[in-house]
Amino acid sequence: MNALWDWGDGAIAVPKKTLSNDCLTLCPIDVDRDAPEWYVAMQEPDMHVWTGNRVPDDIDEVRELLAGYNAHPDIMAWCIRDGLSGSMVGTYWLAVPYPSEGKRISVDAQRIAKSFWRTGRTMAARRLVYRYAFEDLAVEEIHASAWGHNVNSCRSMERAGFELVEVAARFNPKYGKELNERHYVLTRERWRRAVATSRERLAEE
Ligand SMILES: CC(C)(COP(=O)(O)OP(=O)(O)OC[C@H]1O[C@@H](n2cnc3c(N)ncnc32)[C@H](O)[C@@H]1OP(=O)(O)O)[C@@H](O)C(=O)NCCC(=O)NCCS
Repeated sequence: MNALWDWGDGAIAVPKKTLSNDCLTLCPIDVDRDAPEWYVAMQEPDMHVWTGNRVPDDIDEVRELLAGYNAHPDIMAWCIRDGLSGSMVGTYWLAVPYPSEGKRISVDAQRIAKSFWRTGRTMAARRLVYRYAFEDLAVEEIHASAWGHNVNSCRSMERAGFELVEVAARFNPKYGKELNERHYVLTRERWRRAVATSRERLAEE
């Protein structure tokens, strides 16, 4: 467990750590370095169909977005970079863990550039972040949600081991009507089981 973790008296300090494996590096967002690449990736309209983002008008809009992630007191935000090419794959954020009903909870979200969808990068980034959350930060549950129409996001979470816990209608400001939102939970136990199963599978191959 991370020594900086402290909860119960309201003082929470979580380090923004660089996470990496053979395939990816997740480093703290650097607005000057990341904004030009992310501006190009964000020109793809398909990335924004089911998120609160939009195609940015100019690079300053992206700078503001990335600076906002960095300044947000409740999240840790990373830039995901490909291990081989160094290209920016996306952004990933994890909520600073908070207590709820006696458990340590976090929330995650990610935006992956379309050219990297379903290339294994999203899953690799999830693995790094979940190991950090569950093992270093002692998180017990990660919560996440997506609009039911966001098939990519729902399938990606289900594939990562998240369990669907609720479907509820909520007003979607982009579409101006109520739509179903799916709420998911990944428990530490379920994640550990999934990691153990994939290790066994690898050992058998
Ligand atoms: C949502 C998002 C992060 C998912 O990442 P992804 O790279 O597209 O998907 P993953 O590689 O994680 O998918 C994992 C598995 O889920 C399943 N899956 C994912 N998308 C699917 C789809 N459209 N149809 C069927 N199965 C799908 C597949 O089994 C896939 O594994 P495979 O590629 O080996 O077959 C990415 O599409 C994205 O950033 N979209 C735009 C922003 C966004 O919507 N963010 C989430 C907001 S809640």
